[in-house]
Amino acid sequence: MPSVLITGANRGIGLAFAHSFAADGWRVHACCRDPDGAEDLAALSVVMASADTAGAVMLHRLDVTDGSRIAGLSRELADEAIDVLVNNAGVMGPGTGFGEMDYDGWLPVFETNTLAPMRMAEGFVEQVAKSGRKLIVNISSIMGSLGENADGGAIIYRSSKAALNMVSKSLSAELAPRGITVIVFHPGWVSTDMGGPDAAVTPGESVEGMRAVIERVTPNDSGRFFNFDGHEIQW
Ligand SMILES: NC(=O)c1ccc[n+]([C@@H]2O[C@H](COP(=O)([O-])OP(=O)(O)OC[C@H]3O[C@@H](n4cnc5c(N)ncnc54)[C@H](OP(=O)(O)O)[C@@H]3O)[C@@H](O)[C@H]2O)c1
Repeated sequence: MPSVLITGANRGIGLAFAHSFAADGWRVHACCRDPDGAEDLAALSVVMASADTAGAVMLHRLDVTDGSRIAGLSRELADEAIDVLVNNAGVMGPGTGFGEMDYDGWLPVFETNTLAPMRMAEGFVEQVAKSGRKLIVNISSIMGSLGENADGGAIIYRSSKAALNMVSKSLSAELAPRGITVIVFHPGWVSTDMGGPDAAVTPGESVEGMRAVIERVTPNDSGRFFNFDGHEIQW
C-alpha cells in the first residue's frame, strides 16, 4: 500500500487530498495543528477503518512551523516509507500593500509557506528516499510566479510562494542524486476558506487534477511548476 503524508489536512485542499488518496487505498498520514478539532478527518479515519478497502488514515498533530515537532514526528514515523510528501499547509497573511506594509506580519507567512516545506523535506527525506515513488509535492501558487505577475498586490503572500518556488527548484537539484522528484503546483483558484466561495474550482476538482499529474511525473519532471490541470506555469 503506498503512503502519503499531507500537511494542513484538516480542511480545504489538504482534506480533499486525504479523501482522494484514502479512497484509492493509500495509507494517509494526515497532519494538522489540532487533531482533536479535526472532525472531518476523524470521520474519514473511522470510515476507512470500517470500510472493506486497503486505505487507512492516521491523524498526527503537526504545526509546520515547529521544527522540534517535525523532528519528533519524523522519529515516530522512522520506519515508514513515504511515497509522496505533500507540503500543503499555507497562509495568505496580511494583504497590506505599498505604503502600509505589515512587516511584523510578513515573517510568520514565510515561516509557514517557505521555511516549513523546507523543514519537512529535511525532516522526512529518509522516509521519502526509501519509498517506491520518492516524490515531494509543494503546493505553491501562481501568485508566486514572477513571470505571471503583471498587477502586483499581495506582496507578502506572493514573495513567500516565490521563495517556496526557489526552495523547490533547488531541492529538485539537490535531491536528484537520491532519486527524489520535487514538483510544484498551483492548485487553481479553489473554493476553500482561503479561496472563498466564488472560486472557480472545487477542492475535489483541484485534487483530481493534481493526482493525475502526480501519477504520471517521472524524475525527468523534477523542478517543474504545474497548474492543477497539468499545464506548465512559468517561474
Ligand atoms: N484556495 C486557493 O485558491 C489557493 C490558490 C493557490 C494556492 N493555494 C495554496 O493551497 C494550499 C492549501 O490552501 P487552502 O485553500 O486549502 O487553504 P485553507 O482552506 O485556508 O487551509 C489552510 C490549511 O493550512 C493549515 N495551516 C496553516 N498554517 C499551518 C501551520 N502553521 N501548521 C500546520 N497547518 C497549517 C490550516 O490549518 P488550520 O485549520 O489549523 O488553520 C489548513 O489546514 C496553501 O498552501 C495555499 O497557499 C490555495
